[in-house]
Amino acid sequence: MQSIANCRIAVVTGANKGIGLEIVKQLAGHGVTAVLTARDVKRGTEAASSLGLPNVIFHQLDVLDSLSIHRLADFITRKFGKLDILVNNAGASEVEVDKERIKSLKIDAETWVSL
Ligand SMILES: NC(=O)c1ccc[n+]([C@@H]2O[C@H](COP(=O)([O-])OP(=O)(O)OC[C@H]3O[C@@H](n4cnc5c(N)ncnc54)[C@H](OP(=O)(O)O)[C@@H]3O)[C@@H](O)[C@H]2O)c1
Repeated sequence: MQSIANCRIAVVTGANKGIGLEIVKQLAGHGVTAVLTARDVKRGTEAASSLGLPNVIFHQLDVLDSLSIHRLADFITRKFGKLDILVNNAGASEVEVDKERIKSLKIDAETWVSL
């Protein structure tokens, strides 16, 4: 059995479906202990158990909620004392796109140069 020191620990955000879930599957398949995180506990636990892998652990994480982020950080610190890989996959940011401002730049989609 691997000790924690020899075992790599990964956190994947937004991993209850899509690319994040596949990344967890691939990491766990390569021997990494993967913490599958999701903002919704039900969706996350169901996704984690759907993989049926002993080295996949679920923990709640909403990447836009600082309390949730601190809870995950505490969990990782207490349980593993380290983090080797962070895959920030969650399709969320607080960036607001001003579409009118972007249009006004008249950027050519072919060259990505402002006309
Ligand atoms: N698919 C593509 O072709 C493509 C191309 C370029 C870039 N990307 C990027 O790759 C990433 C994954 O893409 P995908 O196609 O797998 O997307 P997806 O199927 O829509 O999955 C997005 C994941 O992010 C989670 N999420 C959204 N807001 C969150 C939050 N506040 N906190 C935690 N998790 C949150 C979603 O959870 P819920 O289920 O709870 O909504 C879901 O699990 C995204 O960042 C996307 O922008 C994808």
